[in-house]
Amino acid sequence: MHAVGGQTAQRVVLVGAGQAAAACVEALRKRGHTGPIEMVGEESLAPYQRPPLSKKYLSGEMPLERLLLRQREFYDGHGVAMRLGRRAVVLDRAARRVTLDDGSALPYDALVIATGARPRRLALPGADLAGVHYLRGVSDADALRTDARPGTRAVIVGGGYIGLEVAATLRHLGVEVTVLEMADRVMGRVVAEPVSRWYEAQHAAHGVRIVLGARLHGLRGDAAGRVVAVGTSAGEIAADLVVVGIGVLPEDALARAAGLDCDNGIVVDERCRTADPAVFAIGDCTNHPSVHYGGRLRLESVDNAVEQGSTAASNLLGIEARHERVPWFWSDQYQHKLVIVGLSQGHDRTVLRGDPAGGAFSCCHLRAGELIAIDTINLAKDHLAARKLIPTRMRPDPAKLADASIALKDCA
Ligand code: APR
Repeated sequence: MHAVGGQTAQRVVLVGAGQAAAACVEALRKRGHTGPIEMVGEESLAPYQRPPLSKKYLSGEMPLERLLLRQREFYDGHGVAMRLGRRAVVLDRAARRVTLDDGSALPYDALVIATGARPRRLALPGADLAGVHYLRGVSDADALRTDARPGTRAVIVGGGYIGLEVAATLRHLGVEVTVLEMADRVMGRVVAEPVSRWYEAQHAAHGVRIVLGARLHGLRGDAAGRVVAVGTSAGEIAADLVVVGIGVLPEDALARAAGLDCDNGIVVDERCRTADPAVFAIGDCTNHPSVHYGGRLRLESVDNAVEQGSTAASNLLGIEARHERVPWFWSDQYQHKLVIVGLSQGHDRTVLRGDPAGGAFSCCHLRAGELIAIDTINLAKDHLAARKLIPTRMRPDPAKLADASIALKDCA
């Protein structure tokens, strides 16, 4: 990063106040950046963890204070000016200036875009009725919890991470739950079929009705404009509330309007640089190269956000660093821990380890003999080992791999 590298007194502006931005700011200060830092966040809260929003925050077991990554005083104490409750509306790269929705202009020497992703909206008649929820921020979770009274009936559209985690939490709150999944299995984007089937069975055991291959026609409301039913090709399902979790889209409008290359995310290199030497992008909003797998990726992942935040901070300060982590993801549903390490796309063989009936197992994905990804269910040993072994391009013996009594590291 020639324009700003090595000059630590420069003015850094971050657009976005999520986990990526928080990690970037901490790394900047830790690595000796002494210049001014400003963080712009659309929400009124300092950076917080989003994963509990579908789990312990939604259930009411985790208070707001525990969501925050740092208390507000941390940012004050580290000379980070917080512009919260503000949206960045214009990026003028020639003038190196960001304009906010209150008209104020923030000049920068280096800009870090950390705008994240937004939920994909349901494009159906009735999708704007009261009682239809999405889940991305604290205010969404608060609104959903208010509607989720015991005995109410929820219809969840989408059987992915959000849909299934919310289903589990709503059952805990005493809500009747139906999940409508378009595909022929849940979490089909991210896990192997045996894992999908196992989770379908867990939800069924907890009283969740899952409809696979669901086709929605529209939502029906009452005279007051509140949702009362969801229309599907298999008939109408009564609903007091609806939760939509049908994927996310990268929040790249600011970058796009400023002429930065965007293609399913803001295009950056492995150092989190855009084509503009003064502009970096990090987290869910980026399309970045995968050093381990080749090709380009857009990831929806806390670990990726934190790593890219740190990588951008280094490069911005002239310290060369590449983002080359093998990604990992987790999901908590009921008492079960799903951890996915790596990306299984392109696998040519899947080996099951352990017994799904016993409640702890893994699905190992191989490509041309190399372990490229693993889905682990209630098997911490396997996911911890995989995070070390997948980066080494381990080539396990499939027969040993299938024997869960042999440690993963001894399967080579
Ligand atoms: N009707 C029913 N199901 C649908 C429809 C639809 N019209 N469109 C998509 N789906 C299903 C998909 O088949 C998929 O199973 O919705 C699911 C979406 O799952 P994810 O892609 O995991 O997205 P989501 O659950 O919204 O989670 C988005 O939020 O939890 C965070 O970062 C995490 O990646 C995750 C993101």
